[in-house]
Amino acid sequence: MAERRRLIVVSNRGPVAYARERGERIARRGGGGLVTALRSLVLHHDVTWIASAMTFEDRAVAEEAGGESFAETARDGSEYRLRFVVHDDQAYDWFYNVVANPTLWFIQHYLWDLKTAPSLDHGLHHAWAEGYVPVNHAFADAVVDELDRDPGAAVFFHDYHLYLAPRFVREARPEPRLAHFVHIPWPQTDYWHVLPLEIRRAIHDGLLANDVVGFHTPRWRRNFMRSAEDVVGAVPDWARDDIGYEGRRIGITAAPISVDPSEFDELARSDAVLAAGRVHARGRPEKVIVRVDRTDPSKNIVRGFRAFELYLEAHPEMHRRVVMLALLDPSRQDIPEYAEYIGAILRESRRVNDRFQQGGWTPIDLQINDDFPQAVAAYKDYDVLLVNAIFDGLNLVAKEAPLVNERDGVLILSENAGAHEELGDWALSVNPFDVAGQAEAIHRALDMPAAERRVRLEAIRSWVREHDLGAWIDGQLEALDAEPLPVRG
Ligand code: F6P
Repeated sequence: MAERRRLIVVSNRGPVAYARERGERIARRGGGGLVTALRSLVLHHDVTWIASAMTFEDRAVAEEAGGESFAETARDGSEYRLRFVVHDDQAYDWFYNVVANPTLWFIQHYLWDLKTAPSLDHGLHHAWAEGYVPVNHAFADAVVDELDRDPGAAVFFHDYHLYLAPRFVREARPEPRLAHFVHIPWPQTDYWHVLPLEIRRAIHDGLLANDVVGFHTPRWRRNFMRSAEDVVGAVPDWARDDIGYEGRRIGITAAPISVDPSEFDELARSDAVLAAGRVHARGRPEKVIVRVDRTDPSKNIVRGFRAFELYLEAHPEMHRRVVMLALLDPSRQDIPEYAEYIGAILRESRRVNDRFQQGGWTPIDLQINDDFPQAVAAYKDYDVLLVNAIFDGLNLVAKEAPLVNERDGVLILSENAGAHEELGDWALSVNPFDVAGQAEAIHRALDMPAAERRVRLEAIRSWVREHDLGAWIDGQLEALDAEPLPVRG
């Protein structure tokens, strides 16, 4: 375990979101994989966490703290400091609902059908200038303020919401160690050329203001090193995995994030998960295929249903014996592409169900809600876990679910999910666009002898236990401490 140190963690979504219930202020766990993973940093280090005020109550909390950081206690009793950045509503809408998600997220997961989209009109340029830039500035101001309180602290930025903030901090304070972890894929250099020159330059320049930039896999790192060279003329050193830029050397790391196995061991035994498991067990068919995702176009849910349809078409002997349970967490519903995607999911599952359902059997059990205990109950009970993302930075479901599975379940895993680089040998790999191949993988998985299933599952489990979240965090901090080398090139 790395020694205790002072860290300023910066992410759009914070570790808690406040709400008011029956007149009382309550703190809810912030959602999403990133926040869950980073929460354990708080346990072992002196952390000040800077995040956007998301709720009305967050704003009230921020105001009571006079806009400064304040002491907070995590559920396990560890102390940390939290600071909310309060944004102008309109600027935040442009930042989150125009630039970060439908633009950067779509670029980084290759989600555009380029013959028709995007059409980068005044709206994007305006949202960039009046939303993304000022929100990043506000984050940078908060970081600088915290650095002035504690100049020795290192800053750890996260994700695609904050590409410009490191540059703004560096301009104000040249000394501090800055690191940035990008939790989503980094696409190939040509795809960046969809964005206007000044925007793609600012993104690369902002990231290169850090001392370390991290990705989950060598594939995303390679793409970044190439695009940094093409877009801003940085000089990659492929032997050292670093980049020379403006007289500085930036380390580019590839280290897949992981989970805390003990957290999942506990969750699996919790009352909420056991209760969800009892509901789940009622009327369980012989075989269950599970998927757990946000309703995000990158997750490839519609093609997953289509693959199941092809499987059912080819295997009438499995009718009434197998169900696909799709537990989907509604996500980013203020963005039209996401709202439309839920429509596509509903239509496709209805179509497949209309075609095959009979005598009380409905092949796709689609549940769109945010229910983590139910997801963990499904993790315990799957025969097949389907992760067929179009592209995915890592995919934590592929690590979480095997840890607690009790049925020697088989993982079907997209070759474009970052987790594939670690777990691919023990999963059934699929091309996310090849629905016929996915149908075949479903058949192979459901037909696989028990002994082989067990060997594969055990191998995934031991890998995840050995390469756990603690190891990832230690690796990040070591990279941050690495001595800067002189720039070559
Ligand atoms: O890294 C991707 C990510 O930021 C994850 O933390 C999380 O799973 C998801 O996206 C959450 O997105 P949002 O904050 O938009 O709900």
